[in-house]
Parts: sequence; structure tokens; C-alpha cells
Amino acid sequence: MAELGFDGKVAIITGAGGGLGRQHALLLAKRGALVVVNDLGGAVDGTGSDKGAAEHVVDEIKALGGEAVADTNSVSTPEGGAAIVQTAIDAFGKVDIVINNAGILRDKAFHNMEPELMNPVFDVHLKGAFHVTRPAFVKMREQGYGRIISTSSAAGIFGNFGQTNYGAAKMGLVGFTRVLAVEGAKNNIKANVIAPLALTRMTENIMSGTMAEKIVPELISPIVAYLAHEDCDATGRIFSVGGGRVAEVFIGETPGYYKADLSLEDVRDHWDAITSRDGYQVPANLGDELKMFLPHFK
Ligand code: NAI
Repeated sequence: MAELGFDGKVAIITGAGGGLGRQHALLLAKRGALVVVNDLGGAVDGTGSDKGAAEHVVDEIKALGGEAVADTNSVSTPEGGAAIVQTAIDAFGKVDIVINNAGILRDKAFHNMEPELMNPVFDVHLKGAFHVTRPAFVKMREQGYGRIISTSSAAGIFGNFGQTNYGAAKMGLVGFTRVLAVEGAKNNIKANVIAPLALTRMTENIMSGTMAEKIVPELISPIVAYLAHEDCDATGRIFSVGGGRVAEVFIGETPGYYKADLSLEDVRDHWDAITSRDGYQVPANLGDELKMFLPHFK
């Protein structure tokens, strides 16, 4: 089978000055995409900035014969998001792909979770995706084409100690993506989410041993690039990826229990029926889920 290429496609990758974003940028550029390498260049906790991070990756891409421009705006404000999309328009005339990847950490157990630990994490991960994707989505609607990949996390999808801020933002990106999938459908705009597992500066303190050796960042990029490709028609989906393993995560719903005059005791007495996963379904959107109620209302 022929290799997948991105000739002429314009991709914005946020937080691409290092870690996973750098790998996404290198892979897409090697396959012919014109890449906006965005990165504020701060520390893992989001403090500070350094223009060199994005510029260095652009130099790497150019050395490989690819085309890229650096952008050092922050995703965490509407102005920053608009400026990042404008960088793509100014350099390459359009935007086809947005990869929301920029991220920071401010972990703390919930009873110690102060607003200064919460707000910056929401600003970068969740609001950052809104700020960058919205102006890009406007352009994508006009051109009738777009691919949006946002970076979620198992910490939010499945839960992890000390990460209420991060987990909420990351699961927020699932809701964001599923609504974008619905709204983008008629304009050939597909939106998906990945939950990666890789050794980067973000995880180097918690990963060790064989697992750490196996989960190299470049193994995240193949699924990201596939979801960014025009041949891929997946939308509103979630993919877990790391160390060469890639799998789909889905949100399912049990058939449930029905009684027209449901009482508190009915819930207690039919708990097994309510929670039995036999015959579960995986609704693609709210309309799909409503169909699970309809048989009871005839
Ligand atoms: P990283 O720290 O190497 O990369 C994040 C990048 O985002 C950094 O280069 C940073 O400068 C940039 N950034 C931070 N705030 C920014 C802002 N306001 N504007 C623009 N750029 C900004 O870490 P890594 O691991 O590559 O993380 C990439 C994404 O993957 C993040 O969203 C992270 O939460 C997510 N993730 C990573 C996992 C892993 O195992 N490494 C696990 C689950 C999710």
C-alpha cells in the first residue's frame, strides 16, 4: 500500500517545541505538511518562556528538507489562539489540521488544590484548545475540510491521584471533541482525541524501568498523523496510545432498567439491572443516546 502523505496540507501543532508535539511536527513535515510549530517554551508547570524551543524544531524540520514556521504565542488566551492561526494563514494561506498538544502540570491532592493550581491548567489544556481551534474551525468550515486532534489523558478519562485540575481539563477535551465532531460533520471536519503514554519531561519523574524505555515519544505520532489524514473518517473518537500499542477507548451505556413511576427503592432493588453491561451500546452522540430511551416511551 502507498505511504500516506500530507502534501500541501497546513498543520498547526501547539506545544511542539519538545516532547510529543515535536514528534508530531517532524512526522507531518517529513510527509509533506507545512507546519506551524507553536511553543511558548516554558517549564513543565507553565512558568517562563523561551522562543528557542519552537525555533529549534523548525530548524530540525528545515534540515530534513521540510517546511515549517515557528510561533511562540501562548494558547492560553483568545488573542494567543487567534495569533497562532494567523501565523498559519500568513505563512501558508490556510489551516487544515490543528493538533492541540500544549500542556502543563500543577499536580496536588484535591484538598490542597488552590485556584492558582487549577486555573492555569484549565487555561492551557481546555481553554487553550478553544482559543486555537475556534479561529481555525471558522476557516475549516469555509474550505469544507479540517482535522482536529486534541490531547487528552488517561488521568482524566480513567482517574489519577493528584490531578483533579488536569483530569477535568483533559476530560473536558473529550466533550469539546465530541461536540466538534457533531458540528463539523457537514463540512468534512473530523475531531478526535488521543490519550498518550510516553516518556517526556512531563512524565520522567514517574516513569522508570522497562516501561520507560519502551514508551518513546515518536510512537505517539503515527495515530495522530493518521487521524490528521484526509483518508481517515473517524470522528468523535478516543484513542489510547503508547509504546507501540494503540487502542480505542469508548463511552458505553448499559441498556438499563425502566419503570414509568420509578422510585428510590426501585433504584436500590434493580441496581444489578441498571449496572449490567450485557448488551451495552456506544452512542456516537446525544441523538444516538436518546434512541435508548425511546422504546420505553411508546
Ligand atoms: P512536554 O512538557 O514535553 O510538552 C508540552 C509542551 O507544551 C511544552 O513544549 C511546553 O512548552 C508547551 N506549552 C505549555 N504551555 C503552553 C502554552 N500556553 N502555549 C504554547 N505552548 C505551551 O510534555 P509532553 O509529554 O510532550 O505533553 C504533550 C501533551 O501530551 C500534553 O498536553 C500532555 O498533557 C499530554 N499527555 C502526555 C502524556 C505523557 O505520557 N507524556 C500522558 C497524557 C497526556
